[in-house]
Amino acid sequence: MKPTSSDAGPTAIYRKDYRPSDHLIEQVELDFTLGEEKTIVHAKIAFRRQADCADHDLVLHGVELVDKGIWIDGTRLDVTAYRIENETLCIPDCPETFVFESRVEIAPQENRSLQGLYRSSGNFCTQCEACGFRKITWFLDRPDVMAPYRVKITADKRRYPVLLSNGNRIDQGELEDGRHWVLWEDPFKKPSYLFALVAGDLRCHEGAFTTMSKRDIRLEIWVEAQNIDKCEHALRSLQRAMAWDEEVFGLEYDLDLYMIVAVNDFNMGAMENKGLNIFNSKCVLAKPETATDDDYELIEGVIAHEYFHNWTGNRVTCRDWFQLTLKEGLTVFRDEQFTADMTSLAVKRIDDVTYLRTAQFAEDAGPMAHPVRPDSYIEMNNFYTHTVYRKGAEVVRMYHSLLGQAGFRKGMDLYFERHDGQAVTCEDFLAAMADANAVDLSSFARWYEQAGTPVVEAIGSYDADEQVYELTLKQENPLAGENAGPLHMPVAFALLAKSGNELPIRLVADHGSAARRDAARGLLQLTLREQVFRFEGVPEAPVVSLFRAFSAPVNVKIERSRDELAFLWSADTDAFNRWDAGQELAKGVLLELADDWRARKELQLDPAFTQAFKTVLLDASLDGSLKSLALTLPGENFLMQQRQLMDPEAIHAARDFAIIELAKTLRGELEALYAANGASGPYRNDKASIDRRRLANTALRYLTSQQDEASAALVLRQFEMADNMTDSFAALECMAEIETPDRVTVLASFYERWKNDPLVLDMWFRVQAASKLPKALDRILELAEHKDFTLDNPNRIRALIGTFGMANLYTFHSADGRGYKFLADNVSALDSRNPQIASRLVSAFNHWRRFDPSRQTLMKTELECIAGLAKLSKDVGEIVGRALRGGAA
Ligand code: TRP
Ligand code: ZN
Repeated sequence: MKPTSSDAGPTAIYRKDYRPSDHLIEQVELDFTLGEEKTIVHAKIAFRRQADCADHDLVLHGVELVDKGIWIDGTRLDVTAYRIENETLCIPDCPETFVFESRVEIAPQENRSLQGLYRSSGNFCTQCEACGFRKITWFLDRPDVMAPYRVKITADKRRYPVLLSNGNRIDQGELEDGRHWVLWEDPFKKPSYLFALVAGDLRCHEGAFTTMSKRDIRLEIWVEAQNIDKCEHALRSLQRAMAWDEEVFGLEYDLDLYMIVAVNDFNMGAMENKGLNIFNSKCVLAKPETATDDDYELIEGVIAHEYFHNWTGNRVTCRDWFQLTLKEGLTVFRDEQFTADMTSLAVKRIDDVTYLRTAQFAEDAGPMAHPVRPDSYIEMNNFYTHTVYRKGAEVVRMYHSLLGQAGFRKGMDLYFERHDGQAVTCEDFLAAMADANAVDLSSFARWYEQAGTPVVEAIGSYDADEQVYELTLKQENPLAGENAGPLHMPVAFALLAKSGNELPIRLVADHGSAARRDAARGLLQLTLREQVFRFEGVPEAPVVSLFRAFSAPVNVKIERSRDELAFLWSADTDAFNRWDAGQELAKGVLLELADDWRARKELQLDPAFTQAFKTVLLDASLDGSLKSLALTLPGENFLMQQRQLMDPEAIHAARDFAIIELAKTLRGELEALYAANGASGPYRNDKASIDRRRLANTALRYLTSQQDEASAALVLRQFEMADNMTDSFAALECMAEIETPDRVTVLASFYERWKNDPLVLDMWFRVQAASKLPKALDRILELAEHKDFTLDNPNRIRALIGTFGMANLYTFHSADGRGYKFLADNVSALDSRNPQIASRLVSAFNHWRRFDPSRQTLMKTELECIAGLAKLSKDVGEIVGRALRGGAA
């Protein structure tokens, strides 16, 4: 007998096993009858067998479907004529072309997984990526099977006045029993993961866009009635994204209608379903009183991301799920460029790299390490990762750096010319880039194959007599193995003089003319394991500024004195590297303090660091956002990763100490900064106002570290005076870290004011989940019992448990193990309801081996306890299995 999956444990799926489908689909017709107790889905699918296919069985995916009949070419099959087992339907001996019909019953009202068809706040909605469509009907639920769809939806008119699906509304009608129906047609062939359906009582915020070829597109944002005043920013963002994609990539929208629906219960940020995006309401709704500046930026970025998918993802999609980065890495790169153009290139780059280094570098250094294109998975939902998305975007950015904007555009044009309407691979993308520019990218392909963060060591030497500077670059990737081969990386650089000016670049002749031209524009191409670059005519010993704007996703090892870092922090002409020098300087200072704390030495902040910090604080040339970033010390999460032994207490003590010392020494300067950037006039969401708020709130955070009455009064005043959520929430964040009775009052008043707005209430949970006060853990355990806490809403779970487990390591790693037990209990409770969210939470244990023996034991015990649960989901099983084994099986 063949072992079933339950005997052997869930089995992995391998990229190397990919085979094209035996059957194609020529047309799909779906008929939904939505109801309170059950929903009926009648599907009619025209199949064609592939010419070269010997196997005549039709095998379809289906999960939790109740079979109500199967027909082939209009004839109902006897139940003995097909088999339903292991989440598949098998019909033997099918003709070459035939019409398959099926009728199934499903129960969206009981669906807590938020995959497939489910209910959120009384409405029906869908989430089909990656494998949710098989929870709706029998289908070839794989991205390389693309077809046009026609969808009829029937439902009670009073409860569900709005019925939406992909494409164009082509017909509608009323039934005598109070129900109505709508017929939708999507003329573009699409994979099943882009299917969407929405039914509910929703209001529409409407707009329009005229494309570059003068076609009028109707834009609709659908929300619950109470949110209709929070849609304007999303609409404007969509219009900006549409214009940007035309301008930068020549890409125009294809349908006549673009719809966005906001739902309260959603596992991720948003979903790019063709013509009908479904969004987490957090990524749509904003008005100044309820959303912060960061929320505004997030919304604009996510709206753009999903819009950009229409070309990079929908029209050209993925052959299989291993290629996910083909659409996600590329689309994240596109949304990053867009946001940079809408805001500030340097600020956006700093934000993105900070996130990459904190979240993705950690992932790549733990049991979930995988290449941007994974080789295997057990549960695909576990591979919507920082690596696939964020490192994937860095890989795309490297093409852009190597080829320049014009060369990258040529590559994109060729990619669409070759592959519009197809499901393709990362090789196809690379080939389009290489062919359009006639360059060899064969060693670049290794970025898709190797897991782990490469390390590049840089050694410079200067010969004053010859006026020659030599730069040696050595790359190494410990995770890739000995035989893996070197990566092709763009190294943006400059040689800086003592004056701070950039020195002219002349690469010595024998590097070849292309390399000399690249070098003159500030780019070196590293293709070997070790490479020496010789520059001539260098008049003084230079300070090298390397990997400018973070030109490759690597860790750089370079010998630098604190003086040199302080010089770069005040003078590097690349805004990103200037910031980065400050971070590098702070990192050295903070890790030394952490070591001293562990050794029980008295802590002392290097006065040279305080001096350099003060120079930046007083620099009038820096814009507010950049200055605010420059004055923000590296986070505890990032710092912890810099040592093999993770010590949350030492890192917290060191960072806290530094902040307190800086604020004590520079109190006058910080107060002046705060005062100079106070609100003047009503709220505006433009760059100047955002910069001002960022700077003021950064100053306020430093000041409150003093934990004294004066700073508490400042915070209280801001909280009471604020006319916008940015300033109000910043004050709340500060207050949550001060030991004063005002803290309790302020939190209570925030709750009273916002308890009926779920997105703002999330912030109330979040701010307490992030608290590092001594009693924070007790309060967090209490909040899980609060009447407004629920395991049915992913945003609420992320706000409380996600923030606690991922962003408050100091409290989470409480030595008594109470934090671990709390998180593990919630994972267990969530596993059978929403495994996708449960598996995100359980990743908080991924680095358990890097803690002290006592914490290791505590975490391992929780992991083993979860692993031992009866009926554990594949999602959680895979993460826990990897954590316990230290990597893939
Ligand atoms: N494709 C979505 C994006 O734009 C990701 C996504 C949304 C998703 N919801 C999901 C992935 C649910 C898996 C499951 O990034
Ligand atoms: Zn995406």
